Amino acid sequence: MIPRPGGLGTEPVAVVVIGATGDLSQRLLLPALYRLQTEGAVSPSLAVVGMSRRPMTHDQFRTFARDGVGQSTKVDPVSWSAFAERLFYVSADSTKESDYAHLARMLSEVEPRFATGGNRLFYLAAPPSTYEMILTHLGHSELVRYGGGAPWTRVIIEKPFGHDEASARRLDALIDRVIGEQSCFRIDHYLGKETVQNMLVFRFANTVFEPVWDRRYVDHVQISFVEDIGVGGRGPFYEEVGVVRDVVQNHVLQLLAIIAMEPPVVFDAEGFRNEKAKVLRAIPPVRPEHAVRGQYGAGVVRGVQVPAYRDEAGIGRASTTPTYAAMRLQIDNWRWADVPFYLRAGKRLAQKDTEVVVVFRQPPLRLFRDYDMAGMDHNVLAFKTTDDQKIMLRFAARVPGHKTQIRSVALDFSYHDFGEPEHPPYEHLLLDALRGVQTSFPRRDEVELQWAIVDPLLRYWEEHPPQDFPNYAAGSAGPQQADELLVREGRRWRAD
Ligand code: BG6
Repeated sequence: MIPRPGGLGTEPVAVVVIGATGDLSQRLLLPALYRLQTEGAVSPSLAVVGMSRRPMTHDQFRTFARDGVGQSTKVDPVSWSAFAERLFYVSADSTKESDYAHLARMLSEVEPRFATGGNRLFYLAAPPSTYEMILTHLGHSELVRYGGGAPWTRVIIEKPFGHDEASARRLDALIDRVIGEQSCFRIDHYLGKETVQNMLVFRFANTVFEPVWDRRYVDHVQISFVEDIGVGGRGPFYEEVGVVRDVVQNHVLQLLAIIAMEPPVVFDAEGFRNEKAKVLRAIPPVRPEHAVRGQYGAGVVRGVQVPAYRDEAGIGRASTTPTYAAMRLQIDNWRWADVPFYLRAGKRLAQKDTEVVVVFRQPPLRLFRDYDMAGMDHNVLAFKTTDDQKIMLRFAARVPGHKTQIRSVALDFSYHDFGEPEHPPYEHLLLDALRGVQTSFPRRDEVELQWAIVDPLLRYWEEHPPQDFPNYAAGSAGPQQADELLVREGRRWRAD
């Protein structure tokens, strides 16, 4: 695992969630804070202040939080009341500078009461288009302190960080003025997943695979980020971003950087992030002829009839927002030159599955020309990082019997076999931010480079609106052109 210095304890702090009545806050952040406090992982000098426009009393906010916690955790009444008594709410518009006075008043009440020592962690869980305004207003208010000195201010910013490279750079410039890079935590929750952190351990704590981890032995790499869910109640957010900004520019490219990076010399924030940035810098922008986009129509997912994207709440009837994208990337460095990296991501597909698959080259097979090899395929190593958490290696074996037959078989490791309780990514990442450990938070150059890879494609797509949307049925495997992207190069997407 990524090392976390200083044991479990964290310093006293007031956590301010901006966008506190949203889905992210209710489903993930407040439950993570509740569990961290219940496990004794954070300082008992903790206060949590939620801020959103919606009028709510402190008690209504506590009920809202309890409903969220109850969705994923069994709520113990004693632990709950210990947590609830440090939960507060301010009804304020984060896009209005004058409203920050309400937050200041609330903090001046709760900070002495819970002895939080003036340390503040702001979590920006509001719509991405408001980040610039929020950072500007925070900068004008006296709520934040520049630099890392005590008492400290830290700011966690949700993805997507910006809308393109230019807006990400504007945000970075604001961060430089308002809090400084050392206090900025750009969150990508995939980096907090146990299975994603384990990809690093797999690569660098084992000797077996690293010698074959390059263009001499690897035929290609596939990263699939497929989901069965639709956009749910997040229609307006999704219309603003689409699939590339929602998951490819961040989660998928981070997975790619981890699978392709060189081993860092030291495993600290700069060592890890330098190596990821080097990979990202070696990736030329995606070419439109190497990409496919899609949007789902109505269909059946897991036996349930679901509407088309254009019929979801908050979506325009003629929306051209892609809910699916597949693309082929190249990494122009010595390790990976000429090895294609195929990425795909989409909503309302047949199942939920995020996997990183390394497909090795075939050996020369003349030796076995008298064998039946119809059931044999390339050696494959697959990391499944979500629900079905597995590492799987496929290799060739001789089928027993008089027939001479070779078939591919699998060795499976399930992450659940550890039998240890797993912690959700937001718990790990909140704890890291509370400790000031930036290792699992992408640095500014990584995020800017990620935008540079997808920006020209996004621009091209915007200038050439799709004529064929919707072009895949909900519950299917996605648009047919995504298969052709690989078939024309003699490959296919891996299927279980
Ligand atoms: C989020 C995206 O970042 O990741 C969602 O905004 C997506 O659209 C989600 O569904 C997937 O995360 P996980 O942890 O459920 O795989």
